Amino acid sequence: MHVGCHGTSAAPAARFAQELRRAAPTPQALRRRVSVTVVLNSFREKVIVYVGFDESATAALREAHGLIAPHFAEIIDDFYDTIEAHPDARAAITGGAAQIARLKQSLLRWIDELFVGPHDDGYFERRLRIGRVHVQINLPQMYMLTAMDRIRVKTVAALRASPGVDEPRRERMLTAVHQILDIELAIMLESYREDSLAKNRTAERLATIGQFAAGIGHELRNPLGVVESSAFLVSRRLENLKIDDPGIQRHMEKIVTEVQRSGRTINDLLELARNRPPKRRLIDTRAFVLEAVPAAHLPPGVTVNVDVPAGLPIDADPDQLARVLTNLLINAGQAMNGGGDVRVDAVREPAATVLRVRDGGPGIPSELREQVFQALFTTKAKGSGLGLALCRRIAEAHGGTVSLEPSSGGAVFRVTIPDSPPQG
Ligand code: HEM
Repeated sequence: MHVGCHGTSAAPAARFAQELRRAAPTPQALRRRVSVTVVLNSFREKVIVYVGFDESATAALREAHGLIAPHFAEIIDDFYDTIEAHPDARAAITGGAAQIARLKQSLLRWIDELFVGPHDDGYFERRLRIGRVHVQINLPQMYMLTAMDRIRVKTVAALRASPGVDEPRRERMLTAVHQILDIELAIMLESYREDSLAKNRTAERLATIGQFAAGIGHELRNPLGVVESSAFLVSRRLENLKIDDPGIQRHMEKIVTEVQRSGRTINDLLELARNRPPKRRLIDTRAFVLEAVPAAHLPPGVTVNVDVPAGLPIDADPDQLARVLTNLLINAGQAMNGGGDVRVDAVREPAATVLRVRDGGPGIPSELREQVFQALFTTKAKGSGLGLALCRRIAEAHGGTVSLEPSSGGAVFRVTIPDSPPQG
């Protein structure tokens, strides 16, 4: 079976000569390239050169394609049967049978391209993107290695069993298969490395913020408390004196709202600085959401629709999770300029509860999808840049995640809280 549309007719030797020239660029040529390309090329060049993946390897892979293609379906079935048999790996597949069918097609294209190439910059970019998909779905890195091993074992067995191939050619093909699969692993693991570097950077930023936060937060909390209670006393006094001036009342309300907003920022700062472990217990998701919504003090123009079935449990620290939900709701309100519909829903997944908050705002551009979770990053004039970083930290302390789901409309934040591991 042949899949995809990669032609094998273009002169491979000429193409490879071109590749090799790219694989060993002159220092001047390297300096001329723009930064992103330099990073990508140098990684590609390093792995290709390191494993000795040369013109004869690409030729051997194309030859092996003819022998292995009839076994693709079998290799892919084995790949997914193994995932099915391992609950931790299976948990990464959240879209049921439809997703598995789609993944099988993706893997078919992947394996076809593996043999046919061309193994050029575009190939490396596509493979790195595929690696990032797995990081995003939180697939543990060990399954990337073990899944690659399944593909390797099955492919090698099929090649060894192919009749009518003389031994030196078979050996050449086997070596090329090992080389390309190791290159693939290097690419996949590179995306995990990228991710942990980004997480370390965020952790460093949070640690730095934390050092300042505790001191400043405590200093500001008391005076803000005084402002809030004085505002309350002034309102009471105006009432007693029967002074009903809408202008004064509006200003008093503004003082209270802004003091509360500042209080939330300070609480977020202190919470970031404290980084305390969650105190988890089973709570009823619906009751919890219904209680958290009013605590977000959203403007009157924002309507929150709660679509959470009764009796759905979530295994979390209620205070910390409330902080996540209120931050997401406040964000949603701000994204819609204080008016529109927000929807909160929740579903059970195997061993996890997923909460989603969707707003009717303009959405978040895809290039900012990861940045919005970094501490001190904000696109809003009023935002502190702490809310989403705190949400992510809390979810991660529960072994879970907060991510932005792809959506054509407003932003959809997805919070996944896995159940606590069984004790003992
Ligand atoms: C050698 C290892 C693997 C290869 C070559 C591979 C290949 C792929 C490819 C080509 C895609 C499509 C990416 C895209 O274009 O969006 C994909 C996505 C995905 N893979 Fe893998 N995969 C591997 C390991 C695994 C394992 C072990 C799991 C375990 C569950 C897994 C689960 C998924 C999921 C859930 C998606 C996302 C699909 C979506 O968009 O709905 N993969 N993979």
